[in-house]
Amino acid sequence: MSAIDEVKQRTDIVAVISQYTALKKAGRNLTGLCPFHSEKHASFFVFPEQQSWHCFGACATGGDVLSFIMKKEGLTFGEALRLLADKAGVALPEKPGQAEKKEEQAELYQINQAAAEYYHNLLLTSPAAEKARKYIAGRGLIPQTISDFQLGYSPDSWESLKQHLMQIGYSENSLLKCGIIIEAENGKTHDRFRGRLMFPIRDAKGRTVGFGGRALDDAMPKYMNSSQSPVFDKSSILYGIDRAARAIREKDRAVIVEGYMDVIMAHQYGINNVVASMGTSITETQVLTLKKLSRNMVLALDSDTAGEEAMLRGVGYENTLGAEVRVVRLPEGKDPDEVIKEDIKSWEQLVEQALPIMDYTINMITAKLDLSQPGDKSRAVEQLVPSIAAMEDGVRQSHYMQKLARLVSVSPHVIETTMKKLVTAARKRPTINKEAVELTIPVEVTDTLEEYCLALLLQHPELKERCAGFSVDCFANSANREIFTAWLECDDRLILKDKLDQNIHERLDALMKKEIPATQLEKKIGASLLRLREKYLRSLESRRSELLAQEVEAGGAGADLAVLEEQGIETSIQLGEVQKQQRWSETRR
Ligand code: UTP
Ligand code: MN
Repeated sequence: MSAIDEVKQRTDIVAVISQYTALKKAGRNLTGLCPFHSEKHASFFVFPEQQSWHCFGACATGGDVLSFIMKKEGLTFGEALRLLADKAGVALPEKPGQAEKKEEQAELYQINQAAAEYYHNLLLTSPAAEKARKYIAGRGLIPQTISDFQLGYSPDSWESLKQHLMQIGYSENSLLKCGIIIEAENGKTHDRFRGRLMFPIRDAKGRTVGFGGRALDDAMPKYMNSSQSPVFDKSSILYGIDRAARAIREKDRAVIVEGYMDVIMAHQYGINNVVASMGTSITETQVLTLKKLSRNMVLALDSDTAGEEAMLRGVGYENTLGAEVRVVRLPEGKDPDEVIKEDIKSWEQLVEQALPIMDYTINMITAKLDLSQPGDKSRAVEQLVPSIAAMEDGVRQSHYMQKLARLVSVSPHVIETTMKKLVTAARKRPTINKEAVELTIPVEVTDTLEEYCLALLLQHPELKERCAGFSVDCFANSANREIFTAWLECDDRLILKDKLDQNIHERLDALMKKEIPATQLEKKIGASLLRLREKYLRSLESRRSELLAQEVEAGGAGADLAVLEEQGIETSIQLGEVQKQQRWSETRR
């Protein structure tokens, strides 16, 4: 049993709620004036058997004891849980390993920092680093820059860093965890970086989390990076963020480049709002980090395929994360590093002239087409409409519909129709699938329908649009509600976990791992959301009719009969609607 379940089991919901409103018996249940809104007739009920509550009045909502405390005391899930756990005498797992984890991380920051200093001193003074010194001078870096970024040199030897760090007291095991030494097949360990120019990588707080090491000749790979560690997660790091954060805030704009050298050169020339994405397409975590500083982002990436991919995703980031993304058109075959060094003014101009990402995408796609040809016109529309259709901002969407219409010289109406067709086709696609896939939800999970639904959604964030209008009230369990609400806001696994109280982590991990065949996803989620809603409406209906019967028996003194009756009708209409949809999707199987 999880800590959450234990707290709930040991908590008497009636005793808790009685502290906020006077409850009196009503058959098997209890009723009282709603503690959330003011009313003359009791429309608030507690159902001890289900350990839940519901307000049939103005609130029209309910939940379990945790959601009651959250709502009443204005607490987060975790805070409410701790409060109830205290009262019930349940010891919550003391932030599982949290203290140890912090300690472990602290040591890894220290090790990385010690290594950075070691490499830096060697670069400045060691005769063996002569080649490296020549190399950076040749790239135009000045001493101030080398010290600002604490660039270094890793000697061409197997054990020098390892020996140095072990001498100052770090264990071989810690060095391994840090990813700064590696274990060979024979079990022996040696330095990861040898004979390379070293770039220490820091997080936003300036802590050293890892390294990039550049070969000084044509050796492969050109760059080596630290391996994943408890402090080094490539997908969330932005190289240079420690030195760029202030300027990004001040200039209200972040410029994102691809390489270490690009960042360093920009800063050397006094352009401080520049960070690098570590050579991969920019991730949601990175965009979220930057968005705390400014929502204006300018991408200056290679115009190769990786760049293209990042841009196409960038349109998505504008929607989901509310960032404003622009794209710099770099001269063919040139890095920001070279452009800046050659002519700082022209770099500044390029950034000023950066195009909104959608305009950039339109240019990129139409450049390969002949827009006087009907076939190419269709192709342009086909490739661009999905991005336009996905736009959440109606004004922006209409702007690009018109722009596209002008480009292919058709009326905007035609674009709109195509858009609608594409959207419907995309929705229908899974059902065209001929093979009849068993759609019934596996028996063993029917009692945990909530979990089944959540697992599907967590594993397939693309199903999000299917949840439009779905009421979180349909989840009876407040831990599930928490997960669902957080997921709606952000489906990135790491961020999601970060947002949720650690007592829910175990549940989240289990849901992420739950095995569900990835077939007919649209249908599965459609069917299970409907089932969930049906279950919820049915429980409401049965509670209500039970209450109504009691009221009638008691002469209709307490709750407002008319309201209850009216709501009863409302629920049966909704239930009818759900059943109609269920029948309809049955016939389409
Ligand atoms: P680039 O090849 O553009 O590197 O890769 P760069 O920083 O401009 O380096 P120079 O100018 O050739 O010295 C961009 C980024 O991609 C990552 C690094 O983060 C690099 O800065 N990368 C590249 C790797 O991680 N491994 C590689 O082998 C190459
Ligand atoms: Mn470069």
